[in-house]
Amino acid sequence: MRVLVTGGAGYIGSHTLLELLAQGHEVCVLDNYTNATPEVLTRVRTLSNRTILDYTGDVRDASMLDKVMQDFMPEAVIHFAGLKAVGESTEKPLYYYDVNVGGTLALLRAMGRAGCRRIIFSSSATVYGEPIYLPYDEAHPTAPTSVYGRSKLMAEGILSDWAAAQGDVSAVLLRYFNPVGAHASAQIGEDPKDVPNNLMPYIAQVAVGKREALTVFGDDYETPDGTGLRDYIHVVDLARAHVAALDYAANHAGARHFNIGTGQSYSVREMVRAFEKACNRSIPTQQAGRRAGDIAAMQADPRRAAAELGWSATHTLDDMTASTWAWQSANPHGYDT
Ligand code: WQD
Repeated sequence: MRVLVTGGAGYIGSHTLLELLAQGHEVCVLDNYTNATPEVLTRVRTLSNRTILDYTGDVRDASMLDKVMQDFMPEAVIHFAGLKAVGESTEKPLYYYDVNVGGTLALLRAMGRAGCRRIIFSSSATVYGEPIYLPYDEAHPTAPTSVYGRSKLMAEGILSDWAAAQGDVSAVLLRYFNPVGAHASAQIGEDPKDVPNNLMPYIAQVAVGKREALTVFGDDYETPDGTGLRDYIHVVDLARAHVAALDYAANHAGARHFNIGTGQSYSVREMVRAFEKACNRSIPTQQAGRRAGDIAAMQADPRRAAAELGWSATHTLDDMTASTWAWQSANPHGYDT
């Protein structure tokens, strides 16, 4: 299938490109490089030994979208392009709604003009908000507590209404839990532009000597060791979920959302210990209070994806930490060669 991947030079997008190419799909990338670098595609091309058509542009740009659609004629779109920093979203709400919601609207309009009828959307478990019960299944009520989460839920609603109105289109909405890890080659991985907001890249930068110590946000949660629990999922498992979603979209009309997690959660302290085992060095930590907006525990019920997408995560915690360390130690400055 010809697949347009918006945001394809990003962390999850680049890993998904490799899985798509490995399954024989033809891919095209549209990225504006606000949170990525062209070096990523150079490495993906080398790793896959395949040609990848790519365009530099913004997913909100209708004329750019029309050019890509006319040149490549995608049979499906995987829509990663978006902003994802929870804290920044609170400071810049209009920017986040413009990109995450406006960009999705512009893309759907361009797909309509081009007759493209399938989309896989990069959503987030953050749409659930505070858990009423755990693990979260897809029936759990949604009540996002950040602009970022609300922007994702709005985009989900637009996609659902579009699918209902069109009838012969498919929208698969993937609610990611916590993506971590890197490709086995250690040539691609997570490379945050500034100080990492997320736990795993921050730990990796401490391990490689780029940061002094990890600040542990909160040790008084109602969890076994008092620190936050999350359902971490290896990025290659997450990438494979997109390939499975593509196959599902080819055979199902309408909109359907899926939790993409492992069903297992780990605490901050468990992640630190696992990483120390992977890198064989101590990770200094300092204790701080809870981070605003953080939830004590998140964990996926991944049964719907297993039953309907035929997909389940297979990578272990050791795979997540070892692959992150391999990437970070081989690329101490990320893609800045
Ligand atoms: C995990 C745990 C922190 C950093 C967010 C978004 C989510 C997705 C992933 C985009 C928490 C603790 C973290 C640190 C720490 N983003 N922590 N010290 O907040 O679960 O999810 O990122 O798709 O949508 O909401 O991930 O990695 O920031 O935090 O103690 O320096 O690690 O308190 O318990 P989070 P995270």
